[in-house]
Amino acid sequence: MNRPAEGKRTAPTAMNSQDIDVYLVNSKGAYLYDAKAHALVLVSQGDFRSIVAGSQQHFAKVPVFILIVSDIARFQRGDENQKTTWAAMDAAIVSQNINLFCAGFGLKTRPRVWMDTEKLKEILKLKETQRPLMNNPVSR
Ligand SMILES: Cc1cc2nc3c(=O)[nH]c(=O)nc-3n(C[C@H](O)[C@H](O)[C@H](O)COP(=O)(O)O)c2cc1C
Repeated sequence: MNRPAEGKRTAPTAMNSQDIDVYLVNSKGAYLYDAKAHALVLVSQGDFRSIVAGSQQHFAKVPVFILIVSDIARFQRGDENQKTTWAAMDAAIVSQNINLFCAGFGLKTRPRVWMDTEKLKEILKLKETQRPLMNNPVSR
């Protein structure tokens, strides 16, 4: 959140729907990033990195995954197709912010789509309308 008076964030979202939630997955657990409090809230304890790594197990030992989830129910307008497109756009902008931050601070990352989405929905205790769309592994 970079404009707290307006409740606005570093990444824009379609119609300011703020459909994106960011989660962090490390060796200890899965956490929801509470943007307003600038704090991590534990959602599930355990090492779920191999589930985020999915079919690319060589990522399973990265220190941190940042997981980007859209709740398409937060779009007040649009049909299913449009909501799905906007969600992907909003997620990609957040991912690019992570890419730029990491590039600027000498950290390694990349945008990823491969992950075990169904298992992650359970671990992150997501609603039916919440979709894990992308993740960024972050390491040195
Ligand atoms: C939408 C999107 C999805 C991607 N998904 C994956 C992925 O699941 N796993 C992966 O290893 N890389 C993934 N990538 C990274 C691309 O493979 C990578 O950006 C591309 O090979 C170009 O390399 P560069 O980013 O170093 O220029 C993805 C990139 C984008 C933009």
